[in-house]
Amino acid sequence: MRHRLCAESDVPESGSIVLPFFGREVHVYRSGGRIRVAANVCVHFGGPLECKDGSFVCPWHGASYDMDSGRATGGPARKDAQLMFLSSRVENGDVNYVWGE
Ligand code: FES
Repeated sequence: MRHRLCAESDVPESGSIVLPFFGREVHVYRSGGRIRVAANVCVHFGGPLECKDGSFVCPWHGASYDMDSGRATGGPARKDAQLMFLSSRVENGDVNYVWGE
């Protein structure tokens, strides 16, 4: 399965772009020289995530996550919690969600 998310040029150099994804949302952003796609879901209780100063922060109860590793860095999320990353691939200038290829 392959699903186009956006053009690679749509992804900002810092921060993220939030895109629809089958009725939900994902953050697409640059990290460590590659593009990552993370579900816009706080793993504490399902709140949305805001991209602030290089971290994802949940406005519901204040959990924060490292954008590179996805690991929780503060707030009520479990210390071993991690954001949900989606597999993706950049091809011909597009960022695609890929599954099972
Ligand atoms: S739902 Fe995100 S901190 Fe509680």
